[in-house]
Amino acid sequence: MEHKKKTAGEKAAEYVEDGMVVGLGTGTTAYYFIKQLGTLVADGLFIKAVFTSNATEKLAGGLNIPLLSVDEVNGIDLLIDGVDEIDHNFNSIKGGGGALFREKLVSRLARRIIWILDDSKLVDQLGKFPLPVEILPFGHTHTLKKLAKDGMNPVLRSGEEGIYITDNGNYIADLHLEKAGDLQQLEARLKSITGVLETGLFINKGERMIIGTERKPKEIINSGK
Ligand code: A5P
Repeated sequence: MEHKKKTAGEKAAEYVEDGMVVGLGTGTTAYYFIKQLGTLVADGLFIKAVFTSNATEKLAGGLNIPLLSVDEVNGIDLLIDGVDEIDHNFNSIKGGGGALFREKLVSRLARRIIWILDDSKLVDQLGKFPLPVEILPFGHTHTLKKLAKDGMNPVLRSGEEGIYITDNGNYIADLHLEKAGDLQQLEARLKSITGVLETGLFINKGERMIIGTERKPKEIINSGK
């Protein structure tokens, strides 16, 4: 698995060009991309990068990649990030690592997006991987009750010391849906619930995916874009 993530991440770094503002994703696949980018920067590539989590900020900072916060940029030329599940129409579930809010905001600013993944994450239908939603701690028991009443099977995520806390100081409810169904409708329903701040559903986003396999990475281009 690590080999697949590594080859996908390293391949993605080939798309980064001099002068770009690059969005850095979060997670174990993005890790390999960021490491490779660090090597390219050390070799003279000039870019600036926007991070999607505290962990990524720390990793990229340690590699001397020049960083900007999201509030310092007007846009992002290219975002490279992992996914938890993606279908053939470039709909994906993200947030397994808890960074969905920042990842979604950064993805909105990105002119181009490349997803990097190992081949186990490409699925025919989303939903086997629980859909994470970031919820406000205030009144979270009521938000969870509302999600449960709406048939979303929420489970409050736990961390090492009790409830898992996001980089934004919020909680995550993982929705055990099995089948995500109509994605636009699901997104709209979730976003209309008071207390739900953001969902890990990314609908038809991305220009290509780079899929790590046992051999060389495979690329699929989004024809619906
Ligand atoms: C972080 O919250 C996530 O969205 C990650 O991008 C996603 O979970 C993929 O992570 P891995 O590459 O670690 O599987």
